[in-house]
Amino acid sequence: MNVYDAQRMADVLAPEGYAAAAHLEEADLVVLNTCHIRERASEKVFSELGKLRALKAERAKAGQETKIVVAGCVAQAEGAEIFRRQKAVDVVVGPQSYHRLPELLRRAESSRAVLDTDFPAVSKFDHLVAPAPAAIRKRGVTAFVTVQEGCDKFCTFCVVPYTRGAEDSRPVEDIAAEVEMLAAAGVREVNLIGQNVNAYHGQMQGGAAASLAALMARIGSVPGIARIRYTTSHPGDMDASLIRAHRDQPKLMPFLHLPVQSGSNAILARMNRKHTRADYIALAGEIRAARPDIALSSDFIVGFPGETEEDFGATLELIEHIVFASAFSFKYSPRPGTPAAELDDQIPEAVKVERLSRLQTLLDQQRYAFNRKMVGRVLDVLIEKPGRHKGQIAGKSPYLQPVLMDGSAERIGEIVSVEIVSAEGNSLFGRPLPEQPAREALR
Ligand code: 5AD
Ligand code: SF4
Repeated sequence: MNVYDAQRMADVLAPEGYAAAAHLEEADLVVLNTCHIRERASEKVFSELGKLRALKAERAKAGQETKIVVAGCVAQAEGAEIFRRQKAVDVVVGPQSYHRLPELLRRAESSRAVLDTDFPAVSKFDHLVAPAPAAIRKRGVTAFVTVQEGCDKFCTFCVVPYTRGAEDSRPVEDIAAEVEMLAAAGVREVNLIGQNVNAYHGQMQGGAAASLAALMARIGSVPGIARIRYTTSHPGDMDASLIRAHRDQPKLMPFLHLPVQSGSNAILARMNRKHTRADYIALAGEIRAARPDIALSSDFIVGFPGETEEDFGATLELIEHIVFASAFSFKYSPRPGTPAAELDDQIPEAVKVERLSRLQTLLDQQRYAFNRKMVGRVLDVLIEKPGRHKGQIAGKSPYLQPVLMDGSAERIGEIVSVEIVSAEGNSLFGRPLPEQPAREALR
């Protein structure tokens, strides 16, 4: 989401004459886009700002002005406190107000400490600025498209409902128009994003609400778009039409990020996840029945307040049972203003560290096993960019694995049939099969 938001800010600033600087030291404007989800991400902002203050002072000596903007969820949550902690900051802007960046920067010319963390009364999507085709091409053959923002779930550990506000969905035809423009500029894959993307219920022409599955059917009809992905989902919003889409929509990739957070019913209840362990297992079964080769990915939190060794064991067991192709895992981080931060049975740091290490060992094993299983198989790979070495190109498998191979950069944007010859760490290495057109393209 922050990568996407950063692009949106660049799109808003481009008509004002701003272009990306090659080096930080040359920048007249530095926008620090921030994340508030865990304490470490939040605190990093202030150490980064310390460095930027030094840079600003250095440039000032040479007669150059530097504006510093703090954007993102730390800006939203901390507001004016940021000016207090770091005087070098000129503008603090929350995620709902990026369309006002040009105006805020103009105001910052004459006054110090310009703040905008208002939640707009109108839709979050009304002010999206279309990126220029050149900007799209520079970003490559896969693109994020925002379809939904905000969250009404209120998991007790999570700041998102407070920093990103209430759920809101973008109308179908607005999204389709953006996807058509992206496709015209060479984009082959769209990743539909939202904090709670499968709660999508955007308006169709005529006013009725479309499900995410209906939206994907519309986007699947856009010429040039070969692949669709969506992220991030809540298990509670995986409705029957969305599960069916994994069977019926050929452009929807067989990879699903479906956070579960914990395998213990007691912890899930205290997290206010609104699903049980059995619900998740049943759901994974339904999704696999619809799309047998689907790769599942998830998010996990260890050391949530009150988590016993038994609760943690239940998470490991769930992982053994489901088997994930990849995952993100975190130590619980108490966030100010969230209910879980007030619970008194917080888990000691040493216990969190130890549990995270055991969890990640298991998840890594599963990821490597999943990657090794690909050796000898032929996968459709969307070529995205030149590889690290000369003569190499890199792309993604349907399961979101990076795949490297020898080949010409002219193939960027093609979907190539690739025989996987080895798997190392997170990457696969393969041999393109030029004689065979990609199966995906034939569908
Ligand atoms: N502590 C640790 N992890 C968190 N996440 C969200 N809030 C917290 C927190 N307070 C994790 C969840 C979520 C992912 C985006 O970040 O696993 O799915
Ligand atoms: Fe946070 Fe996701 Fe829960 Fe919403 S559903 S509160 S974004 S963890």
